Parts: sequence; C-alpha cells; structure tokens
Amino acid sequence: MSLIELQDLEKSYGVVKALRKLTLTIPQGSFFGLLGPNGSGKSTTLKILCTLLEPDSGEVLIDGENALKNPRNIRQKIGYVAQEVALDKILTGRELLQLHGDLYHLKRSFRNKKIDDLIDRLDMHSWIDRRSGSYSGGMKRRLDLATGLLHEPKLLILDEPTSGLDIESRSTIWSLLRELHGQGTTILLSSHYLEEVDELSDKMAIIDSGNVIAQGSPSQLKKQLGKNRVTLKVREFSNQIEGQKVLELIKEVKGLNNPVVNKAQGFSVNFFVDNTDGLSSLRRQLTEEGFEIFSLSESRPSLDDVYLQATGKTLMDAELEVVTQRDLKKEAKQAMR
Ligand SMILES: Nc1ncnc2c1ncn2[C@@H]1O[C@H](COP(=O)(O)OP(=O)(O)OP(=O)(O)O)[C@@H](O)[C@H]1O
Ligand SMILES: [Mg+2]
Repeated sequence: MSLIELQDLEKSYGVVKALRKLTLTIPQGSFFGLLGPNGSGKSTTLKILCTLLEPDSGEVLIDGENALKNPRNIRQKIGYVAQEVALDKILTGRELLQLHGDLYHLKRSFRNKKIDDLIDRLDMHSWIDRRSGSYSGGMKRRLDLATGLLHEPKLLILDEPTSGLDIESRSTIWSLLRELHGQGTTILLSSHYLEEVDELSDKMAIIDSGNVIAQGSPSQLKKQLGKNRVTLKVREFSNQIEGQKVLELIKEVKGLNNPVVNKAQGFSVNFFVDNTDGLSSLRRQLTEEGFEIFSLSESRPSLDDVYLQATGKTLMDAELEVVTQRDLKKEAKQAMR
C-alpha cells in the first residue's frame, strides 16, 4: 500500500522551474531514498510533502488524505527534519526539545521520558544542557533528528540528515534510523550521498532537474544496467572522428549494453556488460582496427552508474556544474557593481 502519492507536481520560484511534473509513490513501511544532485528539487519536494510549501499544480496524497486541503492532520503524522534549522541560540537543547513537545501537546510525563530516551539514543548527554548557540554541526543535526522524533510520527521525512557530518555521527544516525524503520516507521530521506541511499534504503528514486529519472530498489536499478560496469580508455577518444568509430564498435559488439560516454574525462567511455565474452571480442576488434587501449577495467555497477546512464553525467559532475554556475553568477554580479 502506498503511504505517499505525488502526482505531476510543479513548482517554480520566479523563472526557476524547481519541479517539472514530478510523480512519485512511496510505499507504507518503506525506507525511501531520494537521491539527486544540488538543486535537483529534493528540498522543494519534501517541503511540499510537509505542507510547508504549496505546489503550483499537482496532487499530494498522504495516507489517503489530500495534504493540500488538510495540512493540520498531515502535520501530526509527520516528523520533519529540515536541511537547515534555525535554533533559538539562547535555549539549551533540552529546552528546545521541551518546547517542541509542548507544540505537539505531548503530556509532560510522556514528553520528558521521550526526551531522556532520545538523549540516550543519540548520545547527547554531555552537551544537551548547554546553550544551543555553541553546538557543532553534528550536535545540531542530532538535536534536529530528536526534534523530529518526539511525537513518534509514523512517517519520518529527513532532508539530508547527515550532510557534513563525521563518520561517527553519521553512523549513530544511521543506526537509529534503521531501528525506527525496523519498528514500522516509514522513512523518506533525501541525500546526495550515493552510499547513504545505497546502504539504507529499500526503495529509491533519482531526481534530476525536478524530474524522477529512475526508481526502484537500489539493487534493481543496478541490475538493470548489466552485470558489470566497464571503463575503457582509448587514445583515439581525444579525436572526435576516431572516438566516434570506437563508440560504433562498442555498439556493434554483442553482450555490451548501454554505452555512456563520460564527457568529463577525455579518454573514457563507460558501459555495462552482461557477459565477459563481449569484452574479449571488443579488445580484439579494437586492436585489429589499430586503436590504442590505455586500459579496460571492470567493476560492479554503482548508483552513480544508474545516474550516469540516465543523464550522461556522473552525480559528482552534476554537483560541480551547479557550483560552477553559482560561481559564474557571483562573478557576473560582482562585475556589474
Ligand atoms: N526560495 C527559493 N527561491 C528561489 N529559488 C529557489 C528557492 N528554493 C529553491 N530554489 C531553486 O529551486 C531549485 C531546486 O532547489 P531545491 O532546494 O529543491 O534543491 P535540492 O535538491 O534540495 O538541492 P540541495 O542538494 O542543494 O539541497 C534550485 O534551482 C534552487 O536554486
Ligand atoms: Mg536541499
């Protein structure tokens, strides 16, 4: 049964189209990972789900209820951990948790017991009674998570919960999330860490420029590509016409599928093989035609390959593009001053 259904969501901020007919179904009880590069629309999607933002058009059903019409009901069911949370710096972590519990009208005794539980579980003893203004990024993230969990929501929505955290804090958060999922909480988490989504989620979607470009379980998505990923580096790729010939050869050889040119690296092409016979005949044919092979290596397909297959670039390249665009815009603004 699906807990969340998003249908044809559209959202623009001025001229920026953040979501383009985004459609997504999240099953009850799943651990759902939303993977996408910077600016792909993850936070916008999650904010709409939490009724903090209205879409321009489209439908949002949560637990069979129209979230756009009944935002109050929906908020009671959801625990939301935003990407950036503004804390009242004067209050201590414990006071902030107490305040949050009161906002949800929790009984005092239940609230305090729950807070003690979470302090324990997230290892917050040594600093929770300090003013939150002095907290590190990792401490803030743990406090945010505790805040989202206080009212024991059946749906937990987390926007990049471990972004920028050290390995220890990340693994504390991961194990708590696994435990909650084991107890029946549906979890929807956004991330741009491939390994986070791969490790935790049983279902996932990749979004890019406000669209879902692939969905399924991480292993299904990788399996669809073929048994192994191959990276071929050939001298002739530096020449457009010769490089094209190599690509044609790859397409002709049986047993190789989905060739994707990785534009970021001049000499490389990535593709996926169903069996290794295809590889030896590729090597033979390339050599016969006089192409110089620098390297031909195999590895298991990763989620980055799924992304590469769908978009023609790696997730890391997509992030670099966003950073570069931001820098260019900044430079242009400075030049105009
Ligand atoms: N308040 C806003 N005003 C203007 N543009 C916005 C606003 N919020 C988001 N955007 C733009 O909408 C697009 C989607 O942004 P969103 O924050 O949903 O992406 P994201 O996938 O969460 O990115 P990140 O990984 O960087 O958090 C981006 O182009 C972003 O610049
Ligand atoms: Mg975001």
